[in-house]
Amino acid sequence: MRINGPRPAPTPREETDERQKTYLLFGATGQTGKHFTSLALQDGHRVRALVRNPGKLAVDSPNLEVCQGSITEVPGLDGLIDGVDAVVCLLGDAQVQKKRKINTAFVRELVPAMRRHGVTRLLYQAGGLSAPPGQKLPPHLWALRHTVARGYIGQHEDNEAVMRYLADDAMDIEWMVHRAGIGSDGPSKGVLERSASRISMATFRDCASYDYQLLSDPAAVHTCDPSSYRKR
Ligand SMILES: NC(=O)c1ccc[n+]([C@@H]2O[C@H](COP(=O)([O-])OP(=O)(O)OC[C@H]3O[C@@H](n4cnc5c(N)ncnc54)[C@H](OP(=O)(O)O)[C@@H]3O)[C@@H](O)[C@H]2O)c1
Repeated sequence: MRINGPRPAPTPREETDERQKTYLLFGATGQTGKHFTSLALQDGHRVRALVRNPGKLAVDSPNLEVCQGSITEVPGLDGLIDGVDAVVCLLGDAQVQKKRKINTAFVRELVPAMRRHGVTRLLYQAGGLSAPPGQKLPPHLWALRHTVARGYIGQHEDNEAVMRYLADDAMDIEWMVHRAGIGSDGPSKGVLERSASRISMATFRDCASYDYQLLSDPAAVHTCDPSSYRKR
């Protein structure tokens, strides 16, 4: 792990002939982000992570480049984006998002910076209780959002504003939004697949694995779908 140091040259990957990629990850210390980081590193890719507290990172690797900072005052966004293959946002701070749409403000800075550097692919994880642009939640999800999950309403409103911004102002970017349903941090319960109509209560591990696959799925571009476990 290197913190704010010089960047190493890309290394060849031994096990596959696929080119080593660099993912710029926001939220690497989070419950989904920690699994995403491990998956990408295990596959021989590089992860550049902006984190508030590097001590919270659970993994260490020469392919993990750590930059300390907050999305509310990003130190050198252009420098972070330069040379990456894709950007991944697994971000949330429910307490702050009750008062401020920090993710939306950040994505509004991120997308122009991606354009400046020719980076086209962006994955953003929202929640299954966040309504996609121009749509309403089905009644059972709306009821959940306004009862047991009401502490996260600010986070969902922020996620919804991000999706609206992407749909209205960023169709030149290959964005994809995963409206995740997450119920536990336990072991894998199966393989998630994109579904416009079904949503599973998944594990963070499975959501991270789904996000990782989704990033290279051209069919997922410009979608805001939830995910559901593949029937066995
Ligand atoms: N948790 C759920 O049950 C659930 C369910 C469905 C969907 N989702 C959605 O999935 C997304 C990620 O959720 P999660 O549960 O994986 O996240 P999480 O565990 O709450 O972690 C959030 C991540 O965002 C980082 N972060 C927050 N504010 C930041 C800031 N100002 N600057 C830099 N980093 C910041 C956190 O850093 P720190 O470690 O420094 O706090 C952490 O790494 C959210 O949009 C959420 O709506 C979550």
